Amino acid sequence: MSTNLQQQIENSLEQINKIFPVQAILNQEVTKSFIRNYHTYSSWGYKYLHSREGSLHLAMNYEGYFTPQGFYEQTRIIHQFLEAYPAHTQVLELGSGNGFNTIDLAKKNPQRHFTGLDLTPASLRTARQKSAKLSNTRFTEGDFQQLPFGDESFDVVFEIEALSHANQPQKALQEAYRVLKPNGLLIAIDGFRYPNFEQQPTSIQKAAQLVEITMAVQQGVEIQDWIKMANQIGFALQEQADYSAFVIPNLTRLCNMAKEYFYPTWRAKLLKLLLPTHLAKNAVAGLLIGATVKAKAQGYFKVVLQK
Ligand SMILES: C[S@@+](CC[C@H](N)C(=O)[O-])C[C@H]1O[C@@H](n2cnc3c(N)ncnc32)[C@H](O)[C@@H]1O
Repeated sequence: MSTNLQQQIENSLEQINKIFPVQAILNQEVTKSFIRNYHTYSSWGYKYLHSREGSLHLAMNYEGYFTPQGFYEQTRIIHQFLEAYPAHTQVLELGSGNGFNTIDLAKKNPQRHFTGLDLTPASLRTARQKSAKLSNTRFTEGDFQQLPFGDESFDVVFEIEALSHANQPQKALQEAYRVLKPNGLLIAIDGFRYPNFEQQPTSIQKAAQLVEITMAVQQGVEIQDWIKMANQIGFALQEQADYSAFVIPNLTRLCNMAKEYFYPTWRAKLLKLLLPTHLAKNAVAGLLIGATVKAKAQGYFKVVLQK
């Protein structure tokens, strides 16, 4: 990792600390109500600064520059898996947010049945409004660590940037396993820490922790530990891919917006007073995450597991 990158991260931490005391953020406990509030109070910012279409995940752009079409790349990948399944397949999305993924897939797969589950009532309301005309979708309120569904109810379970929010990642994996039919798939596209996270310089670890907490993630999991946990539950690893390079264009866009927030300092102090706290703190993650991904502290991966 270049010393330039480390220096850039240290400069950003210094600037952030002028506006939001870094230690206070690191001490924050990410409870379920914190997660709900985060998603409720950030929704305005997500809509106007991130994705008008309601995606709460990162765009994947292969050409090296951001386009909103990249928000549909994750559903294109999930759709390819669904094509191998017969009509009437039951599909569950964990942490479905505004319904962006479930609705896109439900339109492309009118014969298959989709259930979206989320913790945040405000996001569920949006999802239900947007899907009112679709007969093959339903949205349910619940916690993916305690699923309100019977054993072996689904052929495919997928999640986009949702299980990273789990306070009990093992419980979330056990629940996905329980509700899957035999041989069913769990497809995850999500952020994880890279292996050997703890060997990173302290400033980079601190930056990565700030990214996690300001995005309502209590503590990131190293990718290989998550897969090991899944194996112990009974899942077999089918595929693993590192997509980090493809989210860099979106992360660069977020970083440029965050710089507008943090510099000059007087403006950041003013914006802090004017904007809801959860929304304002998104700028912390925005300023740092491009660098923590380039430093290979955090990455963006696809993991496909079979029951
Ligand atoms: C980053 S958003 C991603 C939303 C959606 N998957 C997308 O790609 O647009 C994470 C979502 O996970 C939900 N979530 C977090 N923890 C959850 C839990 N324990 N149970 C269910 N949903 C949860 C949040 O409410 C939020 O809608």
